[in-house]
Amino acid sequence: METRSIIIGTGSAIPKKIIHNKDLEELVDTSDEWIRTRTGIVTRHVVEEGETNSRLAGEAAKNALEMAGLSPVDINLIIVATLTPDMPMPSVACLVQDAIGAKQAGAFDLAATCSGFLYGLAMADGYLRIHPDHHVLVIGSEVLSRRVNWKDRGTCILFGDGAGAAILTGAENGRGIVTSHLHADGSLWDLLAIRGLGTREEVTPAQLEAGLQFIEMNGREVFKHAVRALESVTMEALETAGWKGEDIDLFVPHQANMRIIEHLRQRLGLSEEKVFINIHKYGNTSAASIPIALDEANRSGILKPGAKVLMVAFGGGFTWGSVAMKW
Ligand code: UT7
Repeated sequence: METRSIIIGTGSAIPKKIIHNKDLEELVDTSDEWIRTRTGIVTRHVVEEGETNSRLAGEAAKNALEMAGLSPVDINLIIVATLTPDMPMPSVACLVQDAIGAKQAGAFDLAATCSGFLYGLAMADGYLRIHPDHHVLVIGSEVLSRRVNWKDRGTCILFGDGAGAAILTGAENGRGIVTSHLHADGSLWDLLAIRGLGTREEVTPAQLEAGLQFIEMNGREVFKHAVRALESVTMEALETAGWKGEDIDLFVPHQANMRIIEHLRQRLGLSEEKVFINIHKYGNTSAASIPIALDEANRSGILKPGAKVLMVAFGGGFTWGSVAMKW
């Protein structure tokens, strides 16, 4: 039997502070009704003083380790997908490595925005083909609330903070990752970007005044590209896996907009129970969205061993991708 990468533990961490749609009515010209119907979002969680990306990531990692029944020193590699690291250097992955005491692990961050966790799973899968007895910790973790312009109604209603983690190892039991597909189109980068705080230009007070440290998005255009790319990457995954839409036991899409998810559900002909949704609670948590969803699905008991799971994501860059696995 072929050796494949299986997930043996999942975990997540969500900050306690909740922002309701009604709270946003105080900040920008919006309404609870508009946000619910246009996005499906009802609440999002955000960090408070002292809570950081690496702390959330570390907590998610500890929960995943506990489920896997592993000690931190059993981890050989830590990959953190994020676009909101604590600082440019060191990586969040190194901070997590220290915080959890994963003394044997290599560690690096991966920048692929909302598709980052799926990129991370694909990298872990490649690594485990060389070292099938190793354990790889893949985390998606974001503190987007610090990169959101709370005066921009086009973006501030959408995003939330959180972290999710998964631990992978090699196994020969017919389960595990069946296919992964990764894509990008950098020509469309400026439809969804944080233009400031990089090294392209000197960071000046004028830049900060202009809000270049915040997420800027052409929502309507991103929406159109997201629908097209997610549909195509979903079909591509099904074809490579040799599955039909109805074979999917659980579809776990990136939680960016309920209307996008609903479009994909209908396109696949899936019943509502087969699509995992938690966007109403957390909004769009970028790289953390799929691992948080996966952990919630896992802990709720709906993921039986061997279940066919298809995960798809799309985000800034643009990046998009899929991972199909037998749970
Ligand atoms: O995670 C990465 C991938 N991200 C995505 O896939 C997100 C993709 N985009 C979206 O989810 C949606 O485009 C949004 C939720 C951001 C916006 O929804 P939309 O249906 O595309 O709205 P729109 O931008 O076309 O705007 C429709 C109207 C506009 O008013 P006019 O010009 O028609 O008078 C907007 O100004 O809605 C207005 N609007 C709002 N109204 C109330 C935009 N934002 C808001 C708001 N509250 N928060």
